Amino acid sequence: MDGLLSDGPLSARLAGSIRADGPMAYDAWVEACLYDPDEGFYASGGSAGRRGDFLTSPEVGPLFGAVLARWMDARWEELGRPAGFTVVEAAAGTGTLARAVLAAQPACLAGGRYVMVERSAALRAAQPTDETLPGVDQSSVELSSVADLEDLTPVPHGVVLANELLDNLAFGLLEAVDGRWHEVCVDARPAGPAEPAGGFHEVLGGAADPPLPVDAATCPPGSRIPVQTAAADWVDAALRLLGAGSALIVDYASTTPVMAARPPEEWLRTYRGHERGSAPTDAPGTQDVTVEVAVDQLPDGALISTQADFLNGHGIADLVDEGRRLWEERAHLGDLTALRARSRVTESEALLDPSGLGGFTFLQWTRPSVPMSTHE
Ligand SMILES: C[S@@+](CC[C@H](N)C(=O)[O-])C[C@H]1O[C@@H](n2cnc3c(N)ncnc32)[C@H](O)[C@@H]1O
Repeated sequence: MDGLLSDGPLSARLAGSIRADGPMAYDAWVEACLYDPDEGFYASGGSAGRRGDFLTSPEVGPLFGAVLARWMDARWEELGRPAGFTVVEAAAGTGTLARAVLAAQPACLAGGRYVMVERSAALRAAQPTDETLPGVDQSSVELSSVADLEDLTPVPHGVVLANELLDNLAFGLLEAVDGRWHEVCVDARPAGPAEPAGGFHEVLGGAADPPLPVDAATCPPGSRIPVQTAAADWVDAALRLLGAGSALIVDYASTTPVMAARPPEEWLRTYRGHERGSAPTDAPGTQDVTVEVAVDQLPDGALISTQADFLNGHGIADLVDEGRRLWEERAHLGDLTALRARSRVTESEALLDPSGLGGFTFLQWTRPSVPMSTHE
């Protein structure tokens, strides 16, 4: 990876690294494509949102955050309404979800903290601060932002939340060859007069153990599975941070054996400007590279539900009804409050759509609120 330390365009630095060290491990390739500090997709402005590269639940509108605010209050109630409740939102992007949660004014955050964790400095720079949250009573919430979970001190009571983070953490890739799993790596094509830039392509590396016992011998040749060690480590770190409370991870998800049986291009995707992108080895840094999350590679013990079931269970219908009533009262004014209230109906349809966002997976891990030693 030494080549990546030198100057120059990302593709030239990656090609230099491969020439020096040989084909690159897939996770190192994804890491560079997404997070190279100069030209990685997220360092150079790639983002969620209507003007961004893909639409996520928080970007549909504020309703998603309003339901999550209810979930946060329920966790706070369960813990006996502790003071100083902390919400840690990882993959906070430009702070869209934070704005929606704070606008919903959950009781748990009165005197509490909301911490946005976002790796991209470009996205952090666009996040709200205490001073830039119009219409939200910030007098009692401490709002802050950090680059990494490791920058946080332990959270005695609170929740850690991440929408569409794990699918964007670097992952390895294995392919079934002659009954064994082999690493998939990325190699550089030699530059030639016809193709001066060379380009990159996948090659097979040495045999490797799978992250779980999935028998390559029973998989059709060419089957692939992801290796999501970084995602599992991230969830472990989030759970270690929490004294008492819950971690909630939201993503498109599958399991390792199911992914082995599906065409890999279905679960390893690229996006650019709201369209599917090209091969993950094309034009590094110019497109999002994302993978479905293999939940069986994550720590055990999560409560699993679909987004639709989770949002229904936390009162999305009440919020939509409230929006309808507000719209009927204020339609003649046509003000922002009236329009926002009316948009809850369409937001809810998008968030609950079983073939779209409603089919996303919610994983919730809970830390005990009562130390085990106090049990009889
Ligand atoms: C797909 S976007 C999701 C943004 C937002 N949560 C949403 O749902 O609209 C993934 C975000 O995770 C950020 N990210 C990646 N690794 C991270 C990490 N280790 N800690 C915090 N943020 C990270 C990326 O920079 C990017 O902004």
